[in-house]
Formats: sequence, structure tokens, C-alpha cells
Amino acid sequence: MTHATGERGSTTPAHDTTPAHDTAPVASGDREKALPGLYGGASSRRLTVRDIARAKERGERWPMLTAYDAMTASVFDEAGIPVMLVGDSMGNCHLGYESTVPVTMDEMTLLSAAVVRGTSRALIVGDLPFGSYQEGPVQALRSATRLVKEAGVGAVKLEGGERSAEQISLLVQAGIPVMAHIGLTPQSVHAFGGHVVQGRGEEAAQQLLRDAKAVQDAGAFAVVLELVPAELAAEATRSLHIPTVGIGAGPDCDAQVLVWTDMAGLTKWPGRTPKFLKQYADLRGVLGDAAKAFAQDVVDGAYPAAEHSFR
Ligand code: KIV
Repeated sequence: MTHATGERGSTTPAHDTTPAHDTAPVASGDREKALPGLYGGASSRRLTVRDIARAKERGERWPMLTAYDAMTASVFDEAGIPVMLVGDSMGNCHLGYESTVPVTMDEMTLLSAAVVRGTSRALIVGDLPFGSYQEGPVQALRSATRLVKEAGVGAVKLEGGERSAEQISLLVQAGIPVMAHIGLTPQSVHAFGGHVVQGRGEEAAQQLLRDAKAVQDAGAFAVVLELVPAELAAEATRSLHIPTVGIGAGPDCDAQVLVWTDMAGLTKWPGRTPKFLKQYADLRGVLGDAAKAFAQDVVDGAYPAAEHSFR
């Protein structure tokens, strides 16, 4: 399942290793400016796209995770994850589909609302599923408006570069922040013929850079780069004033996103795990062991014990 799936130039400040809360500008009387850092900063309010823009100005890297339910989202919110994506990867990771393609607006709205309810700090980005914006800007506006009004998301994401620029432009004019997504766009997996790295070769690289510029010019506040050679992602990151969010796009993007079930080792992979993925836990093992221990206790009559029983 691939729901996915150097150096900084002079135009962008280099990422440094100083904790963000030591570098952020703090102006008294301005709550937004007083935010110490996207990750590692405490905030009593929800983060906004303005905070994201300021992080790029500071050269601050930030993490993004997907989330599909209130309880998991609350764990990530408490951990300080500043941006959560209710990705259409829910199709593979949560709903048991073979791909992201079958995900509907009803499913996206229901799960986005749950993630919003489970969080108080993170900026929640709702994905526009396949078929909910391809007809044109007006359809995109109708779908995005639904996610904002019914689910309460702070931004939406849609796939495509130049081809989606008109949609992005209308949403932004309507006051809906948009995260774009270029490179490998999983909703077009059938057209790509699989989850293959995009932007290889001069022509494809130039197209990726044109796509990146097009979504920025259309008003996107950030752009996901999925399965893109690291050097090309670094060039795109240097050339844009909006942050790039990499997944399989090397170390030089402004932010990195992973599907949470992949990150935590819950996803069951049919073959090898993707090259770009680092698993930070073995949740499949932990949960499986817990289920087996519970089952064994029940079979043995060891659970419930006296201390679990009412008198
Ligand atoms: O749906 C999703 O989870 C995504 C991420 C892989 C960026 O689009």
C-alpha cells in the first residue's frame, strides 16, 4: 500500500538545529506572533496557515501525520504534531479499500469531523477525495465548503499541479486554505501504472517545477511532494515561498508527512516496506500480543480475576 506512497539555497533560510522556541519572534500583545514553534511549542489556540507561513520564514522544519479518528488524533495532538491530514489514505488504512479511489465525501466528512473533535491545537487538513473536485472549480468549492462547514477542518488538500490551479484559485478566493499535492498523486495511480517515482528526467523534472509554481501562484499555502527525487524536491523547496511537505521526497523539504499506520508499524505490507518509510514502533506486534494475551486469559479463566469483579 503506497498511500504515498542537501542543502538550502540562498532564497530560503537554512534549517538550523536551534530549538524553534529559541528562535521565534515574540511580540507582546500579538498572540499569533508569540507562538514559539510549530512542533514543541505550546499553544492554547489552533494553529493556522499563518503559523505555517511563519515557520517557512524561520526555516523551521515540521512534521505532519495522517489521522482518521478522534482518539488517535488526540494522541498526536498531545504529542505536539502541528498539522494532521485526514488523508484519503483512509481508504487503505481505515476502510479496507484497495486504494484511495473509492473514498467518498460522506466518509471524508465523518472522519474529518472526528479528528477535529479529538484535537485542540493541530491544524486539520481534510483531503478532497477522487471525484469531488475533478469536474471543475465549482464542484471543488462545493466539496471543500462541506468539509469546512460540516467537519470543521481548517484547510483542504487536493491533488494536481497546473491541472488543478483553477480549483485552488477559487477555493482560496472563497477563503478556504488549500494544500496542494504533486508528484505521485495516488488518485491517479491507474494512469501512472503504479506507485512510481515522479519527476525523473529533464522533461518530467521541469513539469514538476511548473506544477509547484502553478499551485503557489494559485494561492496554495503548502504543497505535498510525493515520490520525487531528493534533489528535485530540494530545488522545488528553494524556489517556492510556500512550504513543501515531503513523502518519499528526501530530506530538504520544509516538512515531512507519513501515514500514521505506516509510521507506527500497524500497516501490513504485502511485500517490502517502501524505501522512504521509517517505522517508529511495532504497533501491529504490540496489538497482536495484547489481543493474544487477553484471549489466553479468557480461555484459561484468568480474566476476569477477583479484582475485576463486583461484589
Ligand atoms: O492521503 C494521504 O494520506 C496523503 C498523504 C500520503 C500525503 O495524501
